[in-house]
Amino acid sequence: MYCIKKVTDDLVWVGANDRRLALFEGVYSVPTGVSYNSYLLTDEKTVLFDTVDKAVRQRFLENVETTLKGRKLDYLVVQHVEPDHSAVIPELIRQHPEIKIVCSARVLKFIKQFYDFDIDSRVHLVEENDTLNTGKHTLHFVMAPMVHWPEVMMTYDSTAKILFSADAFGCFGALNGALFADEVDFAKDYMDEARRYYSNIVGKYGTQVESVLDKASTLDIEMICPLHGFVWRSNLNEIVSKYMLWSKYEPEERGVMIAYASVYGNTENAAEILACRLRDKGIKTVIFDVSVTPASEIVSAAFKWSHLVFASTTYNAGIFVTMEALLNDLAAHNIQNRRVAIIENGSWAPTSGGLIREILGKCERINILEKNVSILSGLKPKQLSDIESMAQAIGADFPAPAAVNQNNQTAPNTVDPNTMFKLSYGLFVLTARDGSKDNGCIINTVMQITVTPVKITIGVNKANYTHDMILKTGKFNVSVLSESAPFSVFQQFGFKSGKDTDKFADSEEVSRTKNGVRYLSKWTNGVISGEVKESIDCGTHTLFIAEVNQAFSLSSDASVTYQYYFDNIKPKPQPPKGNKKGFVCKICGYVHEGDTLPDDFVCPLCKHGAGDFERLA
Ligand code: FEO
Repeated sequence: MYCIKKVTDDLVWVGANDRRLALFEGVYSVPTGVSYNSYLLTDEKTVLFDTVDKAVRQRFLENVETTLKGRKLDYLVVQHVEPDHSAVIPELIRQHPEIKIVCSARVLKFIKQFYDFDIDSRVHLVEENDTLNTGKHTLHFVMAPMVHWPEVMMTYDSTAKILFSADAFGCFGALNGALFADEVDFAKDYMDEARRYYSNIVGKYGTQVESVLDKASTLDIEMICPLHGFVWRSNLNEIVSKYMLWSKYEPEERGVMIAYASVYGNTENAAEILACRLRDKGIKTVIFDVSVTPASEIVSAAFKWSHLVFASTTYNAGIFVTMEALLNDLAAHNIQNRRVAIIENGSWAPTSGGLIREILGKCERINILEKNVSILSGLKPKQLSDIESMAQAIGADFPAPAAVNQNNQTAPNTVDPNTMFKLSYGLFVLTARDGSKDNGCIINTVMQITVTPVKITIGVNKANYTHDMILKTGKFNVSVLSESAPFSVFQQFGFKSGKDTDKFADSEEVSRTKNGVRYLSKWTNGVISGEVKESIDCGTHTLFIAEVNQAFSLSSDASVTYQYYFDNIKPKPQPPKGNKKGFVCKICGYVHEGDTLPDDFVCPLCKHGAGDFERLA
């Protein structure tokens, strides 16, 4: 039976999941399975983007036929010839001999190497920037060599603003009924697998990934459809920002990954003690036994953490086998830009430290601590100082915040408004109803103050129409925004005035709590209804103290914080073209061009004042 998912009105996912695969590419464990994605566009012409692995050929062929509904298949775009995406091409051609294969010359060469069918009579060769019109849609072809093989090509549909990204932005793991990354808690449940996929599959080719990211930055992309894992239709920056770090071999987290190889537990013991001394200094640590944890997970962790420690016993006058394999794997995946420390062990001739240094010394921008800790069989009390010295040397890269002396001499005697951004605000849609008028705005000031009864406070700007409605009716709802919320929600509720706009005009869903006030059932994880008991005039804002009379959860997604919004949701401001001078709004990214910014300037988008603008570099 077919199993398909709608991507857009005329694009369907016709791929399939495989949970029986023991090792992806014969080497990478996939305990949660893997998806092979293929997409079928039903425009005036029908266009299939890649096929799937032979393990799921039957489901895929059913999916294609169901979606075609008896139409012929006009084009197959082949972006990548690795057999997990091309294995079913010969069979597809037997079923659809009319098909034209759209591919690059390199793809053509690889298809001929892998398969024996007549391709010359049906090939439609494309090069960089070539286009193909299929009716409503125009496809643009973008070469992406070495992401992951040399023939890889991506396709940009400029009509739907979709990037078919081949292996890029993929992820291990079956889709489990979802298709879009915003349907799952990607950061919590899938980011580690996305990193493991990236680091092991394309980690070696950071320069080539950077070059594709540069090309992609010139395109207006609203959706990314990769060959494995989830489709991205919102908050694209969540994955793109990771690729920008990974491709430059920049660590994601400051902290220490310790990988050890230990035969009888003595090297492990040294690794554990080092981790304790690092934690004592407030430094994050993770530890892996390289004989137990699959190498692909440790490679992935090495791409994540800023500092790496390798501890290995000496074995056959060399590095212990599993550690040697891991180090060669790391070097093969081009690990670079890391600070490294080494612990060696050996009962009669410890040599592993020097050999580890030799392997990692060949990698770029690897800075190895000069002194190894060297153990003869087991760590002795007098050597605890060696471990402490290593912890201190690593700790020197993690400076503690500058202490403020008793006379407050180092604390600037200013009120820096940026300091307010350090507060861990959440972000919320505050809604109210007055008669038949519904309205809402974005606020960041909701706080629970008592448990019995449950009371909260909200701070609301008097300039907001919602403020006046709450003052009049005494009723409101707080919809707690989750990390899945796209920028459009903030634009809708934060950058417009309810006085002249119906903020719910485009909303199909009408969800109300028992107080009759609307709430957002999408992009949120909880709703709280409040009844105002007291209000305090705070100048520009009113602080409402309210009793909660209804509250319920909508999802387990993480709540969005102010910091998360700035890092992952708010588009990065683009400087005005032609090197013009100007000021950018730190809240919404609006750019005011000119040499000066009047003190009373108000952002036309988000209504924040001149204090929230900064000069463009
Ligand atoms: Fe999923 Fe490089 O193939």
